[in-house]
Amino acid sequence: MISKEFIRKEFPEFDWIEDVELRDKCVAVLQEGIEAGGWTEETVYQCPIAVSEMSADCPVHNLDHIHDVTNMCKAVCDWLLPRYSFMQVDWDIIIAAALLHDVGKFTEYGVNDQGKPVYTEKAKLMRHPLAGALLASKHGLPDKLVQIIATHSFEGDRSYQCPEALLMKRIDTAQFGMVNYFFPAKKAVE
Ligand SMILES: [Fe+2]
Repeated sequence: MISKEFIRKEFPEFDWIEDVELRDKCVAVLQEGIEAGGWTEETVYQCPIAVSEMSADCPVHNLDHIHDVTNMCKAVCDWLLPRYSFMQVDWDIIIAAALLHDVGKFTEYGVNDQGKPVYTEKAKLMRHPLAGALLASKHGLPDKLVQIIATHSFEGDRSYQCPEALLMKRIDTAQFGMVNYFFPAKKAVE
Protein backbone atom coordinates (compact mmCIF):
# COMPACT_ATOMS: atom_id res chain seq x y z
CA MET A 1 0.00 0.00 0.00
CA ILE A 2 1.39 3.38 -1.06
CA SER A 3 -0.35 6.40 0.42
CA LYS A 4 -0.70 9.78 -1.22
CA GLU A 5 0.92 11.28 1.89
CA PHE A 6 3.97 9.07 1.35
CA ILE A 7 4.34 10.30 -2.23
CA ARG A 8 4.00 13.97 -1.19
CA LYS A 9 6.51 13.55 1.65
CA GLU A 10 9.02 11.62 -0.45
CA PHE A 11 8.67 14.03 -3.37
CA PRO A 12 8.39 17.64 -2.23
CA GLU A 13 9.20 18.44 -5.87
CA PHE A 14 5.50 17.98 -6.66
CA ASP A 15 4.96 21.41 -5.06
CA TRP A 16 6.78 22.91 -8.05
CA ILE A 17 3.88 21.95 -10.33
CA GLU A 18 1.74 25.07 -10.25
CA ASP A 19 -1.51 23.63 -11.68
CA VAL A 20 -3.05 21.93 -8.66
CA GLU A 21 -5.25 19.61 -10.72
CA LEU A 22 -2.27 18.47 -12.79
CA ARG A 23 -0.21 18.03 -9.63
CA ASP A 24 -2.83 15.81 -8.00
CA LYS A 25 -3.13 13.67 -11.11
CA CYS A 26 0.65 13.27 -11.28
CA VAL A 27 0.79 12.20 -7.63
CA ALA A 28 -1.92 9.62 -8.34
CA VAL A 29 0.04 8.27 -11.32
CA LEU A 30 3.21 7.78 -9.28
CA GLN A 31 1.23 6.24 -6.43
CA GLU A 32 -0.51 3.74 -8.72
CA GLY A 33 2.67 2.98 -10.66
CA ILE A 34 4.63 2.09 -7.54
CA GLU A 35 1.77 0.05 -6.14
CA ALA A 36 1.26 -1.81 -9.43
CA GLY A 37 4.84 -3.00 -9.22
CA GLY A 38 4.15 -4.57 -5.85
CA TRP A 39 6.47 -2.20 -3.99
CA THR A 40 5.72 -0.95 -0.49
CA GLU A 41 6.67 2.26 1.27
CA GLU A 42 9.59 0.32 2.74
CA THR A 43 10.78 -1.56 -0.38
CA VAL A 44 10.28 1.08 -3.09
CA TYR A 45 13.76 2.49 -2.43
CA GLN A 46 15.20 -0.76 -3.81
CA CYS A 47 13.62 -0.43 -7.27
CA PRO A 48 16.63 -0.39 -9.61
CA ILE A 49 17.51 2.37 -12.04
CA ALA A 50 18.30 -0.28 -14.69
CA VAL A 51 18.87 -4.01 -15.00
CA SER A 52 21.02 -5.12 -17.94
CA GLU A 53 23.05 -1.90 -18.35
CA MET A 54 23.98 -1.33 -14.72
CA SER A 55 26.03 -3.16 -12.12
CA ALA A 56 23.84 -4.96 -9.56
CA ASP A 57 25.59 -3.13 -6.73
CA CYS A 58 24.74 0.32 -8.07
CA PRO A 59 23.72 2.45 -5.06
CA VAL A 60 21.57 4.80 -7.16
CA HIS A 61 18.00 3.55 -7.48
CA ASN A 62 14.96 4.63 -9.46
CA LEU A 63 13.74 6.98 -6.74
CA ASP A 64 17.17 8.69 -6.60
CA HIS A 65 17.16 8.99 -10.38
CA ILE A 66 13.73 10.64 -10.39
CA HIS A 67 14.83 13.12 -7.70
CA ASP A 68 18.05 13.88 -9.58
CA VAL A 69 16.42 14.39 -12.99
CA THR A 70 13.70 16.61 -11.52
CA ASN A 71 16.14 18.76 -9.57
CA MET A 72 18.57 18.96 -12.48
CA CYS A 73 15.71 20.09 -14.77
CA LYS A 74 14.80 22.81 -12.28
CA ALA A 75 18.41 23.94 -11.92
CA VAL A 76 18.87 24.20 -15.69
CA CYS A 77 15.57 26.05 -16.11
CA ASP A 78 16.35 28.42 -13.24
CA TRP A 79 19.55 29.42 -14.98
CA LEU A 80 18.53 29.33 -18.63
CA LEU A 81 14.98 30.60 -18.86
CA PRO A 82 15.48 34.04 -17.25
CA ARG A 83 18.35 34.71 -19.67
CA TYR A 84 16.45 34.13 -22.91
CA SER A 85 12.93 35.40 -23.31
CA PHE A 86 12.52 33.40 -26.53
CA MET A 87 12.78 30.14 -24.56
CA GLN A 88 9.08 29.73 -23.94
CA VAL A 89 8.44 26.38 -22.26
CA ASP A 90 5.70 24.88 -20.16
CA TRP A 91 7.25 24.73 -16.71
CA ASP A 92 4.62 22.39 -15.28
CA ILE A 93 5.14 19.94 -18.13
CA ILE A 94 8.92 19.83 -17.58
CA ILE A 95 8.58 19.11 -13.86
CA ALA A 96 5.75 16.62 -14.35
CA ALA A 97 7.68 14.84 -17.11
CA ALA A 98 10.78 14.61 -14.92
CA LEU A 99 8.78 13.19 -12.03
CA LEU A 100 6.85 10.68 -14.15
CA HIS A 101 9.06 9.66 -17.07
CA ASP A 102 10.28 6.52 -15.29
CA VAL A 103 7.10 5.61 -13.39
CA GLY A 104 6.92 2.54 -15.66
CA LYS A 105 10.16 1.20 -14.21
CA PHE A 106 8.28 0.24 -11.07
CA THR A 107 6.49 -2.44 -13.09
CA GLU A 108 9.36 -3.22 -15.47
CA TYR A 109 11.96 -3.94 -12.79
CA GLY A 110 12.04 -5.94 -9.59
CA VAL A 111 14.54 -7.60 -7.29
CA ASN A 112 15.06 -11.31 -6.80
CA ASP A 113 15.45 -13.23 -3.53
CA GLN A 114 19.08 -12.15 -3.34
CA GLY A 115 18.10 -8.51 -3.78
CA LYS A 116 19.57 -8.37 -7.30
CA PRO A 117 17.81 -6.31 -10.01
CA VAL A 118 15.68 -8.35 -12.44
CA TYR A 119 13.16 -7.76 -15.20
CA THR A 120 9.56 -8.56 -14.33
CA GLU A 121 7.22 -10.74 -16.35
CA LYS A 122 5.66 -7.58 -17.73
CA ALA A 123 8.92 -6.13 -18.99
CA LYS A 124 9.04 -7.73 -22.44
CA LEU A 125 5.69 -6.35 -23.61
CA MET A 126 5.60 -3.23 -21.46
CA ARG A 127 8.89 -1.41 -21.26
CA HIS A 128 8.67 1.56 -18.95
CA PRO A 129 7.96 4.25 -21.55
CA LEU A 130 4.86 2.39 -22.75
CA ALA A 131 3.70 1.33 -19.27
CA GLY A 132 4.18 4.86 -17.95
CA ALA A 133 2.41 6.52 -20.87
CA LEU A 134 -0.59 4.21 -20.56
CA LEU A 135 -0.84 4.97 -16.85
CA ALA A 136 -0.55 8.71 -17.44
CA SER A 137 -3.25 8.55 -20.10
CA LYS A 138 -5.52 6.55 -17.81
CA HIS A 139 -5.31 9.38 -15.28
CA GLY A 140 -6.19 12.01 -17.87
CA LEU A 141 -2.82 13.71 -18.10
CA PRO A 142 -2.27 16.02 -21.11
CA ASP A 143 -1.27 14.44 -24.43
CA LYS A 144 2.00 16.37 -24.37
CA LEU A 145 3.01 14.72 -21.11
CA VAL A 146 1.86 11.27 -22.22
CA GLN A 147 3.91 11.67 -25.43
CA ILE A 148 7.05 12.72 -23.53
CA ILE A 149 6.80 9.67 -21.27
CA ALA A 150 6.17 7.38 -24.25
CA THR A 151 9.11 8.69 -26.30
CA HIS A 152 11.81 9.52 -23.74
CA SER A 153 13.82 6.36 -24.43
CA PHE A 154 14.89 4.69 -27.69
CA GLU A 155 11.26 4.03 -28.62
CA GLY A 156 11.06 7.73 -29.41
CA ASP A 157 14.22 8.08 -31.47
CA ARG A 158 12.29 9.20 -34.56
CA SER A 159 9.49 10.98 -32.72
CA TYR A 160 8.79 14.68 -32.41
CA GLN A 161 10.41 16.29 -29.39
CA CYS A 162 8.89 19.43 -27.97
CA PRO A 163 11.33 21.73 -26.08
CA GLU A 164 10.19 20.30 -22.74
CA ALA A 165 10.93 16.75 -23.95
CA LEU A 166 14.25 17.77 -25.41
CA LEU A 167 15.44 19.29 -22.13
CA MET A 168 14.18 16.51 -19.87
CA LYS A 169 15.48 13.74 -22.12
CA ARG A 170 19.02 15.14 -22.23
CA ILE A 171 19.13 15.64 -18.48
CA ASP A 172 17.76 12.12 -17.99
CA THR A 173 20.53 10.77 -20.23
CA ALA A 174 23.19 12.84 -18.45
CA GLN A 175 22.22 11.57 -14.99
CA PHE A 176 21.96 7.98 -16.18
CA GLY A 177 25.24 8.23 -18.07
CA MET A 178 27.15 9.53 -15.04
CA VAL A 179 25.83 6.74 -12.81
CA ASN A 180 26.47 4.16 -15.51
CA TYR A 181 30.07 5.32 -15.99
CA PHE A 182 30.86 4.41 -12.39
CA PHE A 183 28.64 1.32 -12.19
CA PRO A 184 28.66 -0.35 -15.63
CA ALA A 185 27.23 -3.84 -15.99
CA LYS A 186 29.85 -6.40 -15.12
CA LYS A 187 30.85 -8.62 -18.01
CA ALA A 188 30.84 -12.36 -17.41
CA VAL A 189 34.36 -13.69 -16.83
CA GLU A 190 35.31 -16.12 -19.60
FE1 LIG B 1 15.08 8.28 -16.53
